[in-house]
Amino acid sequence: MPAIVVLGAQWGDEGKGKATDLLTTQQSIDFCVRTSGGHNAGHTIVVDGEKFATHLLPSGILTPGCTNVIGNGVVVSPEALFRELDALTARDVSLGELVISGNAHVIASYHSTIDKVTERFLGKNKIGTTGRGIGPAYADKINRVGIRVADLFDEKILGEKVEAALEVKNHLLTKVYNRRAITVEEVVEDLRSYADRLAPMVRDTSLLLNQALDRDETVLFEGAQATMLDVDHGTYPFVTSSSPVAGGVCTGAGVGPTRIDRVIGVIKAYTTRVGSGPFPTELFDADGEKLWKVGGEVGVSTGRDRRCGWYDAVVARYATRVNGLTELFMTKLDVLSSWERVPVCVAYDVDGVRHDEMPLTQTEFHAATPVYEYLDGWWEDISGCRRFEDLPKNAQRYVKALEEMSGAPFWAVGVGPGRDQTIVVND
Ligand code: GDP
Ligand code: IMO
Ligand code: MG
Repeated sequence: MPAIVVLGAQWGDEGKGKATDLLTTQQSIDFCVRTSGGHNAGHTIVVDGEKFATHLLPSGILTPGCTNVIGNGVVVSPEALFRELDALTARDVSLGELVISGNAHVIASYHSTIDKVTERFLGKNKIGTTGRGIGPAYADKINRVGIRVADLFDEKILGEKVEAALEVKNHLLTKVYNRRAITVEEVVEDLRSYADRLAPMVRDTSLLLNQALDRDETVLFEGAQATMLDVDHGTYPFVTSSSPVAGGVCTGAGVGPTRIDRVIGVIKAYTTRVGSGPFPTELFDADGEKLWKVGGEVGVSTGRDRRCGWYDAVVARYATRVNGLTELFMTKLDVLSSWERVPVCVAYDVDGVRHDEMPLTQTEFHAATPVYEYLDGWWEDISGCRRFEDLPKNAQRYVKALEEMSGAPFWAVGVGPGRDQTIVVND
């Protein structure tokens, strides 16, 4: 199985880091690749009780011998990149190799400035972004005024591109947002300061990955963000500015769809969301508080509390369809121990009409209320279970029922944050 995609099936933070790490230890992964997003991601890996978080770096960075690739579809903040690399180096861990596409776009300081002021300007309508400059960097890319990694190596070209990028932005910053203008020189100086360190990492990553696949090497594409945060398929406008769905892997890496063998959707046994936007199964009661507390639902990148709710099988089916999932990896089943009955959303009610699939319009989705089925719960601590048969009968039934509703077979189930706290259901 040479090309595997791991992606988020809900609104992010499903445990993609754990799934990626698990795969890199289960089989030899030659390449671990990020294809979209940037340092808005926060992926947790727990090895022998020690916790690591990756943001812009692919999680395979913690696996020596694995080549880590930041693909052309990623937006790269050089400052965040080296901060993250230096923090890992300071922890004295052996790191895998890192290569970066010269075509990846750069997040400059003005992108995060604009991200933050735009959010402030939106007031109660804000998206709740991570403030990392992701949206403005992708906007420049699409607007054809972006700066790419390869531009950092030619001072003259860089100056011209930064000048073009700042022209309209400075009007906006000074006249609309009441901020100071940014000079071309300060941006060029800042970006150029990373050029020497970046240069040896820059490669034609599309060629590299295609050649690796030709040699039958294993390539793991580590998704960031998630299906419901996708700019096309998510809850627009409350989304990120990239394509975290399976299709985005191909454009974000320069690899054709015919080369992908497995597409694994990572999904929690319940649902969480950070930032604004509709969330039909969201809880505002003691159950929500309990999920938040037991699940430790605090963001890895921004430290914000995650909103919590029950499992949404409509979202799961949608993710299966939009991504062509070959399987699902369900995490955090252990968090659900100690409920008498566990509600699962099987459909939505929109103004008295039942919807078994995602409603056509965002207006309907905003108005959707969950139609619940109630499954019997269990009380046992399952974090030590390692085989499906070890799970309490009701936990087994919960997994089987969700598998049936979600449209894709379950590959594995997580019963704790640790690498080993996983039950492989179908190998
Ligand atoms: P990602 O962004 O999809 O990689 O997910 P995050 O790392 O942001 O959030 C997932 C959180 O759940 C992290 O704290 C993980 O350590 C934790 N986690 C992953 N799988 C499991 C699991 O099966 N059980 C429990 N209790 N925690 C898990
Ligand atoms: P991982 O990879 C959860 C959310 C933000 C906000 C919206 C837009 O760890 O699952 P952005 O800064 O991207 O413009 O913010 O997207 N968001 C995430 N939520 N997990 C993530 O990444 C996220 N990355 C972005 O909270 O609602
Ligand atoms: Mg995360």
